[in-house]
Amino acid sequence: VNLESTVRLRSGRQMPVLGLGTWELTKDTAAAVETALHAGYRMIDTSGDYGTQPGVGEGIRRSGLARDSIYLVTKVEEYENAYDATRERLDELRLDHADLMLIHRPPRHSAGEQIWEGLMRARDEGLTRDIGVSNYTIDEIERLIDATGETPAVNQIEWSPFGWSEQMLDFCRQREIVIQAYSPLTRGERLGDERLQRLARETARTPAQLLIRWNLQRGTVPLPKANQNEHQVENLGVFDFELSDQQIDALSSVNQRWSALGSTPAYVEGG
Ligand SMILES: NC(=O)c1ccc[n+]([C@@H]2O[C@H](COP(=O)([O-])OP(=O)(O)OC[C@H]3O[C@@H](n4cnc5c(N)ncnc54)[C@H](OP(=O)(O)O)[C@@H]3O)[C@@H](O)[C@H]2O)c1
Repeated sequence: VNLESTVRLRSGRQMPVLGLGTWELTKDTAAAVETALHAGYRMIDTSGDYGTQPGVGEGIRRSGLARDSIYLVTKVEEYENAYDATRERLDELRLDHADLMLIHRPPRHSAGEQIWEGLMRARDEGLTRDIGVSNYTIDEIERLIDATGETPAVNQIEWSPFGWSEQMLDFCRQREIVIQAYSPLTRGERLGDERLQRLARETARTPAQLLIRWNLQRGTVPLPKANQNEHQVENLGVFDFELSDQQIDALSSVNQRWSALGSTPAYVEGG
């Protein structure tokens, strides 16, 4: 696995194994995204409500990279008309298509079947290559599939050694849904954890690199956010070492369903 590596989506298309998050990537977003692309990031995750879309689009253009070599993920909100919202996201990004468009979170009183149909139409018209969900439980994903026959390519959820779900992992593997791990660095809150620090000393890597590598070796796709260039570069330094099975297990076992967002992660309800 290297910077160019991809995971296969159920549609047959490929997605990079690692992406840059852009929530609060507000300190000169365009320059930070351009720098990240030059450093080697190939996937960028954004959303209409992050305020980073114009800068993300600008950074992509300034990078001079071919659009096809960049994987762009953005989201529609649960209260929006998904088809119209997809067009609005693209207008703000000044791009003609997204690679992956997600339902940001399930609406309160349904699994978002209508939103899903709007995204299916956007996909069929070429506005996005693939479609998926975020913050969905197993039950909510099953309801979407039952209603439409269309399985999400991705479920983007909060995911780190401190908070993850075996049941969600198994379900997604069975259904060929790729898990994108958000807040993979625990928003910095658990980087000082003693067990993580010990493993970092043992492997001569940083805690952030271990959290990212843990995802890569388990087939989940981390989206670390870093505004600072040193962080961006550090978080790419994850392709020249391998954790042993015991080290992966040791990391996995710190799970306590912990959430950096302070709210219950979506997967807990699903088990
Ligand atoms: N779908 C959803 O509902 C949802 C929810 C939350 C997040 N997300 C996505 O997932 C992305 C990542 O999650 P997140 O932003 O919540 O948190 P995160 O990636 O876990 O943590 C980001 C924080 O860690 C710091 N950091 C980055 N690299 C570091 C390193 N090597 N050493 C020490 N600190 C480091 C960053 O600092 P600097 O920025 O100062 O470098 C920033 O403060 C978001 O940006 C967003 O794209 C999606």
